[in-house]
This record gives sequence, C-alpha cells and structure tokens, in this order.
Amino acid sequence: MMARSGKFAGTRLLLATLALLAAGCKAHAKYPLDTLAPTSDITRSFYDLFVEVTVLDVIVLIVVVGALFLAIMVFSTRTGSVRPPSVKHGDLYLEVAWTGIPMVILIAIVVPTLRTILRTQPYTWPKDAMPVEVIAHQWWWEFHYPTLGVETADELHIPTGKTIHFELFSKDVIHSFFMPQVGGKRDVVPGQENQITLIADVPGEYYGQCTEFCGDSHANMRFRVFVQTPADFDQWVKHQLEPPVKPDAGPAAAGAKIFANAPCAICHAIRGVSGFSKEYTYGFRGPDLTHFGSRSTLAGSIMDNTPRNVALWIRNPDEVKPGANMPTLGLSGREMNQLVAYLESLK
Ligand code: CUA
Repeated sequence: MMARSGKFAGTRLLLATLALLAAGCKAHAKYPLDTLAPTSDITRSFYDLFVEVTVLDVIVLIVVVGALFLAIMVFSTRTGSVRPPSVKHGDLYLEVAWTGIPMVILIAIVVPTLRTILRTQPYTWPKDAMPVEVIAHQWWWEFHYPTLGVETADELHIPTGKTIHFELFSKDVIHSFFMPQVGGKRDVVPGQENQITLIADVPGEYYGQCTEFCGDSHANMRFRVFVQTPADFDQWVKHQLEPPVKPDAGPAAAGAKIFANAPCAICHAIRGVSGFSKEYTYGFRGPDLTHFGSRSTLAGSIMDNTPRNVALWIRNPDEVKPGANMPTLGLSGREMNQLVAYLESLK
C-alpha cells in the first residue's frame, strides 16, 4: 500500500513539475511575481539553473520510482510462496554504487549552482555601470540615481541594455528587495551595503515586493519596476530633473500653501519648496514628491495614483497602511481637495 501511494505521489510530483516548467516557458508573466518569466541576464541565469536542477531531479525521480516499482513487481514475496526473499550483506559493488552515484548527482548540482552564484553576485562590475541606490524604509522604497541627480520613490525606472549596479541600504530594519522577473532577491540590511548588478532587456512594467518581514505593513511594501528603452529612459530622466510645477492660481495654488504650512514639508521634499541640501533630502523621512503626479501608484505601490486614493491616503494613512509613520492632518474637505489638486499637479 505504501509503495503504491508513493508511486502515485511521484507521478503527481512529476506532472506538477512539468506543468511548472511549461508555465515558465511563457514569454510574459501572467502573475505579477512570477519567477519563471525572466527578463534580465541574471534572472535568466537563475531560471536556467532552476531548469537544469529540475531536469536532473526529474531523472532521479524516474529512476528511483522505477527501481522501486520494479522491486515491488518482480521481487516481492508472492502469496503462497514458501521461499523467503533473498538477503544480501556487505556487497562492495552496491556500497560503492550508492555512495558514488549520489556524489556524482550532488556535483552535477553544485557546479552549476556555484557558477550561477559567481555570475550573479560579482565582486566587480563595469566602470560605466549606472549606480542606483535603493534605500529601504518602513514601508517604502527610495530610489536615488547619484550620477543623474534623480530621486524617486516606489517606482524604479531603468533602461534596457545597460549594466545597472544597485546599492542596497536600509534606514531601519532588515528588508528584502525582490523583483522576481528583473533582478531576483537580495536582503537589505542596516549597516551593510549589498548589491545587485544586472542588464534588463525586455521593456515593460514589473512588480516588486519586500520579502523580509519588517513590521506591520511589510506586505504593503511593494514597488514597480519600469524597464524602458534607452530613449524613453532618457526622456524620463529629463522630466525628473525639471523643477516642480508651481501653480499660480486655483485649488492647486491653495494646496501648495497648505503643503508648505502643514507638517507635510517636514518629511517630504519637493525640490525648491521643502527639504534643504541634497545631503539632507537624501534619506528624508518620506518620499520625495517633486514629480509625485507623474507616478502611477502611491503608498508603497499599493494603490493607483488617483485623486480619490490620494485623499483616502492623506485622510488616514494608518488605515491604508497600518503602522505608517505619516500623521493625520485633520484637513477640511475643501483643504483636502486643494492639497490633492496640488500633489496631482506635480507631474
Ligand atoms: Cu520591508 Cu518587509
């Protein structure tokens, strides 16, 4: 009975593995955090390793289940049989075989694994690689492009075909930077700089998520990765470097006054409005809002950037993202509309 259920479990596992492999063959992911739809050099390395090891595992599974099945069918004691099953003691050839074969299998797994680790975690990277500092906060992601002078939050933009060197820092606790399709996963540890080096090659919008439990809103610490053609990326950088919109009339202008006088300006930088030197703005307590209106999501990428959602967020941040460090402002309906109009005007 044990052997029969073992056999069926093996068949199910085999089918599940094949289904998993078939799913991975799709060019684009149906699921946002699909690790089987790689779009960069390093995620392709991870994927190749996964396929190599899985194929090897399936071969081992077939051989083991086959041998077990053979043993049951051919060598089991039959009803009415008087001869006891044969027993072997101290067979040198068998001992060597079942020590040697697993060794060969393990070497076949270790070699490509080490090769992948060395390839995806290099100690050196090209001098012309574009540095991007990733600063993890409870519970949002800050992206700083030191060579471009660009600062953004929760929405990462990178060009295709260029080596990107991510430097990972944490402002508080341990987080984990996970962008399954583009860059795999790496821990972000306070007091330690980790790194990821990659070349993305498929333009698109990808999902990211913190994958190390980091407090109340760990699950709300998401981000988006926009992989763009070099021309589109340059356009984005150009736009990010422009000064923020300064509305001179209407609700947005009134909202700008509210922003400057409410506690918003203590934590959020808007270039030329709040925040001081670059050094001070760097690692500011809340996201840089200079071009907030040009982002498609907000609050750790958990909702779309619409006036309604921005109002919902400002009204009670803790309700949207439990544990959020942003205070409630107690604005009237009219003031809220004005502040939202200002923030959305920051294209
Ligand atoms: Cu940050 Cu979980």
